[in-house]
Amino acid sequence: MKSLEFSLSRIKSHIPSRSRSAYLCSRLFYKSVPESLRNGIVASLGQSWPCVCPACGDRVPRFSPLPEFYVRDLELHGSDLLGTDFETLNSAAYQCPHCGATDRDRLYALYLASRLPAAASEQPNFAMLDIAPSVPLSAFIRNKFRIHYRTADRFMKNVDDRIDITSMGCYPDGSFDAFICSHVLEHIDDDRKAMSELFRVLKPGGWGIAMAPICLALDKIREDFTKTSEAERIKYFGQGDHVRVYSRNGFMQRLESVGFNVRQVRPQDLKCEHIERYGLSPKSVLYIVEKPVVAPAPARRVSQTPRYDGTKLAILGGTPRFSEKLHVGRPNLGDKARLMQRFEEILDRRWLTNDGPMVREFEKQIIGITGAKHCISMCNATVALEIAIRALELRGEVILPSYTFVATAHALQWQEITPVFADIDPNTLNIDPSCIDRLVTPRTTGIIGVHVWGRPCDTDAIEQRGRKYGLKVMFDAAHAFGCSHHGRMIGNFGQCEVFSFHATKFLNSFEGGAIVTNNDTLAEKIRWMRNFGFSDYDRVDYLGINGKMTEVCAAMGLTSLESMDDIIHLNHENYRSYRGALASIPGITPIDFNSTDKRNHHYVVVEVDDSRSTLNRDELVEVLHAENVLARKYFWPGCHRMQPYKSLFPNASLLLPNTELRAAQLMVLPTGQCVTRSDIETVCEIIKSALCHAQKVRGFLADKRTASHR
Ligand SMILES: Cc1ncc(COP(=O)(O)O)c(C=O)c1O
Repeated sequence: MKSLEFSLSRIKSHIPSRSRSAYLCSRLFYKSVPESLRNGIVASLGQSWPCVCPACGDRVPRFSPLPEFYVRDLELHGSDLLGTDFETLNSAAYQCPHCGATDRDRLYALYLASRLPAAASEQPNFAMLDIAPSVPLSAFIRNKFRIHYRTADRFMKNVDDRIDITSMGCYPDGSFDAFICSHVLEHIDDDRKAMSELFRVLKPGGWGIAMAPICLALDKIREDFTKTSEAERIKYFGQGDHVRVYSRNGFMQRLESVGFNVRQVRPQDLKCEHIERYGLSPKSVLYIVEKPVVAPAPARRVSQTPRYDGTKLAILGGTPRFSEKLHVGRPNLGDKARLMQRFEEILDRRWLTNDGPMVREFEKQIIGITGAKHCISMCNATVALEIAIRALELRGEVILPSYTFVATAHALQWQEITPVFADIDPNTLNIDPSCIDRLVTPRTTGIIGVHVWGRPCDTDAIEQRGRKYGLKVMFDAAHAFGCSHHGRMIGNFGQCEVFSFHATKFLNSFEGGAIVTNNDTLAEKIRWMRNFGFSDYDRVDYLGINGKMTEVCAAMGLTSLESMDDIIHLNHENYRSYRGALASIPGITPIDFNSTDKRNHHYVVVEVDDSRSTLNRDELVEVLHAENVLARKYFWPGCHRMQPYKSLFPNASLLLPNTELRAAQLMVLPTGQCVTRSDIETVCEIIKSALCHAQKVRGFLADKRTASHR
């Protein structure tokens, strides 16, 4: 007591009143005065202080502002992030002068107080992982809660575990009920892998605090792995050891892409009345991620079987490597909250279809991306193909490749136009223009090229033949939205091009399609044909059909467009992972994509050349299916081997040797949001293992065939 009085009087007499509050606000005071004494001083002097730190519990006169050097650093490096708003950064009341807790830490402390079990009896064995722990928050957690609390980091001293967040093999699946991962992900090259690991180590139903620097001025994540110097990183990402800065949507979408449900919590939601007392800004946002109890697709877990010894392949009686099916074409999703908001707008407006505002906005954005003059959205690409074919007045015979999805041929046959199948170039997998010459007859009226797998056809050579023979040319661009050809966006070739926005496609509007054209008269005709041929209220000028896109589909399309760049990036990464993992295997080659043009990388297509590999495509697909990897044999068989074409043209295969060859060699592997890098590694391991044990696999498949024939 005596020493407290002495200290108080010392402070009052020796420190002038002007600097007194600064001293009591300083870290020096916190660090140099013993705790018991400090508490006494604070209790005595701090009665009237307006602020309280939720982490250390001390009253303070104010929180200190963000140190100036952060801003100076940005200024010095000419960063355009200067003056933009970072989310959850209260620069005016940044740090607790006593314990050093930042406004983020204080927000977490309040959240944890509302969510963590205070007594062990409430939830025995509650386990929490804290990555790169903040010292004041860590002290708060240890003092306040009776939980199993583990800290981990790659470089920090005094943590329980030294780990790399992208590979936390020391923690089995579902080890923790909760985690804190604050301001870590922006340092990690492969942040998706880190997120997948966080997802893996969390129990189903578990939750986490996931935070990273979010710049509110950005509409997508800014990352660029060519920026390697400290100066460049300060300039572009705000700090010398950051590899990216997130946009709000980008951050949430990336977390969702590995399977988390993401919630935004604001200080006001925490039921504490005076958030200013805690030095929190009402604009701050806490990102809470939750692992669904029933894990959705991205969370598919690879079963924890030991690495292969060959005999463990599922086809040979082992446990399937994937516990849930890994699909090709599992839909990619954009921001769910934004989509729901759009649905509400639609319902509030009661304008559900018939060229509504969402449809118009969607068409406008497609025009913006493709640079074409007109976009007429449709209910799906098959109807769009039919309408385009009719609007172009094609009849008689139309030349197209057989190596395509059957809808291209059906759109003709449905209108009693004969599809005439041309062979493909075995290198490009697209229609071989030189084959067209042999197929033109007096009945031929058009050519439909297909940009298979998003790799553009030889449009020049096809259009040149169109001119030579007086044929109309259009393209089925179902796979090629977002792609370019010789610097021009797909959507600008031929008389018109048709996109598909089916759920499995690169751009997803549930179901949907569009015709894109630069021809004004054709566009007008198509628009009328899409709506029963109505050209005005009571006037019908053409035979029409109902091909309209609904408002909800357009809302989904608009939402997908917002995450388009992210998906391209993800697809490209996946493609590169497959290429890397399969690089050394003879006869197994992912098909190439021209790197000078834009690609959506929506399909990972692998050639299995059985003159060089020990198993053929069909055998490998069987092996993969047994492991729950649903690789597809697209486009096998070619359309000419499907009905009604098989019966109409029984000898077509004689004219289609390259189609026959390539259709038997290619398989499509899973990619997109629902596939993690470790999934890809596992798929490739399965392929390698199967090829190593080809004899056993072949023997097994031969026995199976014999048994089924008995
Ligand atoms: C080449 C091609 N054309 C047309 C279509 C038909 O698209 P939609 O499902 O939108 O009718 C598809 C669908 O897979 C396709 O792959």
